[in-house]
Order: sequence, then structure tokens, then C-alpha cells
Amino acid sequence: MKNPQLSPHVMFSNISTKVKVFFHTSPLLYLITINTCVLTSVCLAVWTDLLQTGSASILLGSSDGLHSHSLLLDEERGRLLLGARDHIFLFDPDNLSQTFRKIHWPASKDRVETCKLTGKNAMLECANFVRVLHNYNRTHVYACGTGAFNPICAFIEVSGHREGGAFHLMANTVESGRLKCPFDPIQPFTSVLTDHFLYTGASSDFLGKDAAFTRSLGPPPDQNYIRTDVSEDYWINEARFISAHPIADTYNPDDDKMYFFFREVSWEGNDKSILSRVARVCKNDVGGLRSLTNKWTTFLKARLVCSIPGPDGVDTHFDELQDVFLLQTKDDKNPVVYAIFTTSSSIFRGSAVCVYSMADIRAVFNGPYAHKEGPDHRWVEYDGRIPYPRPGTCPSKTYDPRIKTTKDFPDDVISFIRFHPLMHRPVLPLTGRPVFTRVRVDYTLTHIVVDRVLADDGQYEVMFLGTDVGTVLKVVSITQENWSTEEVVLEELQVFETPTPVLSLEISSKQQQLFVGSSVGLVQVSLSRCHLYGQACAECCLARDPYCAWDGHMCSRYVPASKRRARRQDIKHGDPAMQCWDTEDSTAQQLQERILFGVQSNTSFLECLPKSQQAQIRWYLQRPGSEHQEVVMDDRVVRTERGLLIRSLHPSDAGVYTCVAQEHTHFAHALLRLTLQLVTQGQLERKAKLPSEEPPAEPQQGAESRQRYKDYLRVMSAPFSSLQEYCDSLWLEKKPSRARGRGLGMGKWKHIQEMKKSRNRRHQSHGRHLDNETLTSSLAPPAGQTF
Ligand SMILES: *[C@@H]1O[C@H](CO)[C@@H](O)[C@H](O)[C@H]1NC(C)=O
Ligand SMILES: *[C@@H]1O[C@H](CO)[C@@H](O)[C@H](O)[C@H]1NC(C)=O
Ligand SMILES: *[C@@H]1O[C@H](CO)[C@@H](O)[C@H](O)[C@H]1NC(C)=O
Ligand SMILES: *[C@@H]1O[C@H](CO)[C@@H](O)[C@H](O)[C@H]1NC(C)=O
Ligand SMILES: *[C@@H]1O[C@H](CO)[C@@H](O)[C@H](O)[C@H]1NC(C)=O
Repeated sequence: MKNPQLSPHVMFSNISTKVKVFFHTSPLLYLITINTCVLTSVCLAVWTDLLQTGSASILLGSSDGLHSHSLLLDEERGRLLLGARDHIFLFDPDNLSQTFRKIHWPASKDRVETCKLTGKNAMLECANFVRVLHNYNRTHVYACGTGAFNPICAFIEVSGHREGGAFHLMANTVESGRLKCPFDPIQPFTSVLTDHFLYTGASSDFLGKDAAFTRSLGPPPDQNYIRTDVSEDYWINEARFISAHPIADTYNPDDDKMYFFFREVSWEGNDKSILSRVARVCKNDVGGLRSLTNKWTTFLKARLVCSIPGPDGVDTHFDELQDVFLLQTKDDKNPVVYAIFTTSSSIFRGSAVCVYSMADIRAVFNGPYAHKEGPDHRWVEYDGRIPYPRPGTCPSKTYDPRIKTTKDFPDDVISFIRFHPLMHRPVLPLTGRPVFTRVRVDYTLTHIVVDRVLADDGQYEVMFLGTDVGTVLKVVSITQENWSTEEVVLEELQVFETPTPVLSLEISSKQQQLFVGSSVGLVQVSLSRCHLYGQACAECCLARDPYCAWDGHMCSRYVPASKRRARRQDIKHGDPAMQCWDTEDSTAQQLQERILFGVQSNTSFLECLPKSQQAQIRWYLQRPGSEHQEVVMDDRVVRTERGLLIRSLHPSDAGVYTCVAQEHTHFAHALLRLTLQLVTQGQLERKAKLPSEEPPAEPQQGAESRQRYKDYLRVMSAPFSSLQEYCDSLWLEKKPSRARGRGLGMGKWKHIQEMKKSRNRRHQSHGRHLDNETLTSSLAPPAGQTF
């Protein structure tokens, strides 16, 4: 059957969930929900599906104390360490289900008792929650735990092959973990280990009050602590540290810095608010000589802004930083900074992803300082004299032979930094606004990792966003030729069986795996599930997933180097008309087209059975001369397991019905297109009178519902493809004795054949105005269609 009337792109504008519909040149209707994954449940890949498709594995349970845990993924050595309550687990990241090894590392009994005496929870707090895990050297990992509110650290030997190699705690290296690890198992904190130095942003006391950014460990004899000044009004106030990253600023290693991100309480006048910050210190900072001894002397911080400009000039601010991911580029001095923020407002709940460049961050640190003055101690731009060397600059012999270390800084530099650690200008996002937002939904974004994916038409950044309800959103940002960007939600994965906050998210680009942790377990999810997008080229293309391409047979993982010509992919436009015009899609045969005749005021049944159990059936109706609309169910129009039941047919029920099966991916196929044509009672009566002069039998009141049920059964059991057949069946049924007895069936058939011929002739010569004159002509299929 050919049906060429469809234009290549048609939008179903009235469908509530912004569903974009694409008509292929074949009589196939594709439907894809764009950016609506979160609104509907249809594209939600559920946990059980993930398990079935082999994409995920779950391990451990809530009894393992995973409500506080840490992950150390080592792609190079092929190992994954998981720190949890009183244990460190060692896994093979290729297969989490394989047997693992573990180290038992509890807090001392005394500490546990003391902890319980302070009223803390035995299971949730008074144990050793391992929160710090870092590679130290080729053979050793540095680990710290909360030690029942008395942090401890130690070296772990992990070497050799997984089964045979060493994996044990070096008991003689256990030491205090104060200023290295938080006391509290769930308080946010950050730590990073580089060049044998450990940098930590955490609260350094039992009450969780004194938040500090510190450096510890290091090769002897440099094993002294450096920390931020205890000056809440100027440096750091009730901070929650998010992440820390060593980044080189210039080609001079003396300029290497530690950048770190946190949110803190800010008092401007009498207003308390939470603001997000990016801060930095020099790696070679050893503290001041007379003042700021063992404190950072190069600490600077700046505000990190993520907001949506409002039409009335009032911006919507996302002030609370939740997570940061650095996407590396070819230039290791310039990673791209991805950050998740949430709103502080309890009324307006929302999350946003903002992206920053290192160039913009450096420009702010090279710009004007802020100064606190006036009776309400507001921060204003500092326009006084700036001492030399510029505060925040790292000491280097190359710049000034007299200043070899921070201990050589003049006193005025030290006292300046003490009271001017804040930059005046904020850091603004690259695009001036968030690249992705989620507002007015009942969840927030909490974690982010980003993967760079090479596709046929360019390179894409795919974001994986963890939420506080145990889901992961896979989002791609697509930049068009005119620099406008489009955010497409490719998948929403329900990673955990129950809605539980995502607590950790790690990506292995090498293994193409995502590791998602929550209090109920650790799940391994493949970065792509191309086969779920379906078999057809068009489906694969419409998915716009940069990981996937149609390889001539199916939707599969796109490998840039392999036979380019056979691969079909279009991330930028997702236009199958360009990509799949010459392919025979296997689903093309699945769409059935039928015509059904319904008698006015009677019952009609539109049968449509989905193949898959998971598919949800939706019905769309296109009335002549109007748009497609989803069919509204009510008492009269009922959705049944086998199809749509329309009781007491109205003239407005006539039109083209499309039965769409929505699979559990965000794809939907049209299974059936059904043209429902209305037969009025008048037409029917006239028709019935043609072969016989007797009037049709009067319906009996009580028999009406029974009659409807009979109608239902009849239409259901025998789908009629032409009115003739339908009418014949009715007519024969009503007058069974006569039809059979007098052999009128055959005579009537002849009559209809004749009418049909004459209609065709008239149709050609006189046009449509004759259509109402005879019953058959108005109900005949359009020219060119065959049955
Ligand atoms: C993972 O390990 C389990 C247990 O050893 C095994 O049954 C399973 O086949 C493995 N899966 C893969 C993908 O290797
Ligand atoms: C790694 O560090 C540990 C702890 O300091 C030390 O015992 C070990 O010898 C080091 N290994 C190597 C290969 O340097
Ligand atoms: C860019 O092009 C897209 C379609 O290609 C269009 O929807 C959008 O409005 C354009 N944006 C601008 C800023 O011109
Ligand atoms: C339509 O319904 C009426 C009353 O319910 C009944 O008498 C009549 O036979 C039905 N006609 C057809 C064609 O089903
Ligand atoms: C034919 O019937 C339709 C609807 O029943 C009506 O809108 C149209 O005007 C009629 N045409 C003629 C020529 O009577």
C-alpha cells in the first residue's frame, strides 16, 4: 500500500507532552518524545529492565552501611575499591558480580563506646566509615575512615593480580585522620591526593563547625599541615566542600595550583544566604613566616554564579553547589568545569547544570579584589593600592629571585590576603545561563559525570546526571550551526529498585561503564544501550544518541574508525529522511491500514493489539481538516485490552485513528492506521430498503445493551474492509431466512457492483457533489487505494 500524502516533518502540536512526530516516506509513523522523558514514564528504563539487558549488576545491601561510602576507580590497573562501614571492598570493574575481596577495618571498641555515649547512632554513625581512598603510589592506597567520630588513616597494600596479589591494611601505618577526613559519615567533604600530598576540605572537629581546606601528608621532611585561616568573616564560613582539582596555570610548575569548589554561608548586612565558590591556593604554599604561619598565604576565592536571566531583570539563582566534574581537554591547563546547582528556596525547587571555562575563572582571579567596609560590612570593589607581588601569585625564582617561598612574602602581601581573599567579580557560566535545568519536578540533581563522544557528525558531550530519587539522566547538548544549543534527554535510567538518592557516580570511558552508588548498592550501567532504540534505521537515527549508529542491520555502538559508509547517524538533526531514505526498515511492514465503517449511534470497536507486553497503547485521531489529537477516554470512548470501544458513535468520531504502541524506551511505533467512516442511520435504512421493501425491525428498549454487546462482538470478530461486506453481514443477519431462502444475497451483490461502477464513472465526470447521493460512493476508499 502506498500512501505518499504525508509530509516529511509534521508536528503534533496539541499533544500535551511535546511529542514530535515524524512521518517516514513509507507508511510508517514514528513518534519520539523529546525532552519529556522526565514528564512521562514511558522512556524510563527501569531497574529490572537494566538487569535483564545485562547492563547492570547490583551488589551488597543496605546492611553493608553504604549510606556513607567512597569509590576509587582505577581504570589503568583494572580495579575498583569501595569504602563502606568497617570495610574496604576490592572489585573487578569489568564484572562486579565476580567474587570480591575485602578488608575488615573497624573502629576501636573504646571509640565506638564513647561515640554511643554521646547519643549517636550505633549503626549509622559509631563505626568506621571509609571516606577517603586515593592511589598513593604503584603499590599503595591511602585510606581514611571516620573511626566512630575519631578519624583514622592508613596505607593499604594493593598490588599484583586480583586473586593472587596483596590486599591488606598496613596496621603499623594507622594514624590520626584529623584534618584529613571528616568526623561525620555523611557530611559533604572533598579530598585529593597528588604528589604524595593530601588536600582535604572538611570539618575538622567533632561538632562539624570548623571547616577548613588543608594540606597534609607529603614526603618527609615536609610533613606539616597547612590550612585556611580561622576567620569566618573573611575566609571560609560553615563551608560544605564539593571538590578539589590540581590544575597547572602556566608552563612554570611553580604556578601549579589547587582549585577547589565549595558552598558557604554568607552574611551581607543581616541577610544570611548560601553562595557557591571557586577557590585556589598555590601548591608550593608553605605558609607565612611571622603571620599566617602554617596557613595558606595564596588563598583566593570567587563567587560562582549559575542563574537564568528573567524577563523582568530578576534572575533565578541556583546558589547551592552540589557537584563538580572536570572534563579534560587536550590542554590539561584548561579542563571544562561542569557544575550542578540547586536552588536555596523551599518554594521554588530546581536544579541546573552550568559550565565554566578555566580562562573565565583565571580572569576573575586576575581582576579586582573585594573589600569589606561600611557599617554593615558589605563587600565592595577594592580600589586602593595593591602590594607587590600581587596577592595570590605563587612564589617563583623565575619571577623574582628574592621570593623563593611564601615565607619570603613581604608583610603587606600577607596582611592584604588576610583581609582580601574574595575577588570582586563573580565567575559567570560560559553560555551566560545553565545548559540544563530541571525545575518544578519532585527531585533534584545531585551528581554529574561527563563523557566526550565522537560521532559521525562531530564530538558531543554526554552528561550523566544522578538524582536524589535513584535515577540517572543521560543528556546530550547539541549545538546547531547558528550556535543555539539543544538539550536532549536520551535516557532516564531508574538505577535502583527503590527511589534512593544517588551517593556516588563514577565513569569509566575505557570500559564504557557507569558506576552508580546509593545506600542500597552499587550498580554498573553501560553508557549506551543502542539495541533498545529498536531495529530500524529511522528509530536509531531519531534517538540522536551519539553512542549509537545504525550499522545496516541494527542499532549498535558507534565506533568511529569502522566502515564509515555503512554507518547511519545524525545527532545534530535526528533526521531519518536524510539518513535512512534508502533503507528497508523492518518495522515498515508492521503498520496496518484499515478502513472501518461505524453506524451512527451504534458501537464501534477499533482493534489494536500491541506485540510487546510493556508497550502502552495510545490512540490519536485526526479529524478531516484538523490536527492529530490524542483520543480522550470517557464513559463513551473506552480503552480496552484489545482496542478502543466507541459506544454510540457521533459524527465527530469519524476520522483517521492511529494506534501507537509506546515501548519502554522513548520510542513509539504506529501499529495501525484505521479510517473510521460514519454510516448514518438514514443511509443504512435506505441501503437496507434497496433489496427489500420491508422496514427494519424496531429495536426493543430492553434489548439495547445486549444488542450493543452483539455489535461489539461482531465488529471485533470480523474486521470489514468495505462497507459492502459490513452491510451485507448486517443485512444477512437481520433477514437470515429471506437472504438465504430467496437467494437475495447474490442479487444484492450484483446491484452493488453495478452501483460501484456507475459511481466511478460519475465521480470522474461530475466530481464530489454526487457523493451523498448513493450510499456507497461516500464511503468508498479514496482512489488509488486497494484492499
Ligand atoms: C561475571 O561473573 C559471574 C560470576 O563469576 C559470571 O557468572 C558472569 O558470567 C560474569 N559476567 C561477565 C559478563 O563476564
Ligand atoms: C609506596 O608507599 C608505601 C607507603 O609509604 C611504601 O611503603 C612503599 O614502599 C611505596 N612503594 C613504592 C613502590 O614506592
Ligand atoms: C537556530 O536554529 C534552530 C533550528 O535549526 C531554531 O529553532 C532556533 O530558533 C535558531 N536560533 C537562533 C538564535 O537563531
Ligand atoms: C444500531 O443500533 C440500533 C439501536 O441500538 C439497532 O437497532 C441497530 O440495529 C443498530 N444498527 C447496526 C447497523 O448495528
Ligand atoms: C454531503 O454530506 C456531508 C456530511 O454529511 C455534508 O457536509 C456535505 O455538504 C454533503 N454534500 C452535498 C453535496 O450534499
